[in-house]
Amino acid sequence: MNSYPEYETKYLKDLIVGNDTKIPLANGNFVTAINFDNAATTPPFYPVLQEINTFSPWYSSTHRGTGYKSILSSNMFEYSREVIKDFVGADTEDSTIIFVKNTTEAINKLSYRMLDSRKRSVILSTCMEHHSNDLPWRNKYKVDYIELDETGRLSLDNLEYKLKKYRGSVGLVAVTGASNVTGFKNPVYEIAALAHKYNSKILVDGAQLIPHSSFDMKPLDSPEHIDFLVFSAHKMYAPFGIGVLIGPKSVFEKGDPDYKGGGTVDMVTHDFIRWSDPPHKEEAGSPNIIGVVALTSAIKTLQTIGLDKIAAREDQLLKYTMDQLQSIPSIEIFGDTDCNDRVGIIPFNIKDMPHEMVAKILSMEGGIAVRSGCFCAQPYVQRLLKVCSKEVKLRLQDPSLSHPGLVRISFGIYNQESEVDILIRLLKHIDKYKEGYINKYIYIPSSK
Ligand SMILES: Cc1ncc(COP(=O)(O)O)c(C=O)c1O
Repeated sequence: MNSYPEYETKYLKDLIVGNDTKIPLANGNFVTAINFDNAATTPPFYPVLQEINTFSPWYSSTHRGTGYKSILSSNMFEYSREVIKDFVGADTEDSTIIFVKNTTEAINKLSYRMLDSRKRSVILSTCMEHHSNDLPWRNKYKVDYIELDETGRLSLDNLEYKLKKYRGSVGLVAVTGASNVTGFKNPVYEIAALAHKYNSKILVDGAQLIPHSSFDMKPLDSPEHIDFLVFSAHKMYAPFGIGVLIGPKSVFEKGDPDYKGGGTVDMVTHDFIRWSDPPHKEEAGSPNIIGVVALTSAIKTLQTIGLDKIAAREDQLLKYTMDQLQSIPSIEIFGDTDCNDRVGIIPFNIKDMPHEMVAKILSMEGGIAVRSGCFCAQPYVQRLLKVCSKEVKLRLQDPSLSHPGLVRISFGIYNQESEVDILIRLLKHIDKYKEGYINKYIYIPSSK
């Protein structure tokens, strides 16, 4: 089944650098690499590289010079903020676009700047977060975790229960837009409305959402307005070290920035500092203009394709794969098999085979890249695997014990049904000749 026109899937594949790279298998043959690890990072778009080439002759110091090229580079940098605002519907006046390295840096930065008073000292995170939207909050605030239902989707009832329980002291509800483990999308607008009802704010970790569907932060006066949004360019076909933190200017006007130095100040004496206004106050050091050019080009490419079309295409790949995976007897899919409200991610295991071994076999026998392990979301994976706290403690005491984990397939817009067919054929073969594969791969150590 391939109801998406073939010429369009070819067009999408042709946008990707390295889509025909040949890689070696264990038997010495070479095959075209298949990448089902797009949730970790995506390959670059050709238009992104072309834009970097076009821009490079004009590259110069950004916000630091009066030369023609320097002014052009600075203008390009500022123009990119407008492109991003338009892309996610950020308020043109109230919000500020801060460039950082990636989502992790964005959330860490926000964690230093978030709370304006001791009264609002609770952060509600969730039991399905990437470590990057959990650990930065822990050493600064009281963190509580919104519960999940039995399939691993967020419980809005529990969110409301907790918002009521903390009676106005929740500074922020910090929630992922889509899980990097199950692909489950969270109902961020309902979460926003609840957070605002209880006088709190919402942060959406957009790392797994923004590249895969259209997104609107909604007007300030809407109860569904998203207060803070973060995402990474390397997950949206622009791997040049840039990420974005969006939030109200007022939050970043107060206090000191976490990183201090060049570019952050308006005036300095040996005993006095007047900080610049945000976003500059929050962007210490020479800016990554090439990363910003790359991100801007990636956004324009995504917009040209159409975010709704991207979501539909990835949904099609998800359903196609989910259906076939379920026909393989020893495959166990985690979370649930419902493809609604989900980005193109599927976590699974093969019964009686370690996750690392499955990933290794797919790579060495099929040239297929997947990820295995806990995907920087250990509490969520432990929960999906029903690992009890006693087992976790055992592993803490003995670091030589392997981590429990899963195998993850994650799609990008350029993946093809024919690639899924290769995956399914190999998984069926592993399922049928499991013992043989185990004997062959048991002594090959897995990379960490
Ligand atoms: C949901 C989610 N949040 C945050 C991150 C961290 O992103 P980065 O490594 O770009 O900082 C990831 C990375 O996989 C992610 O999937």
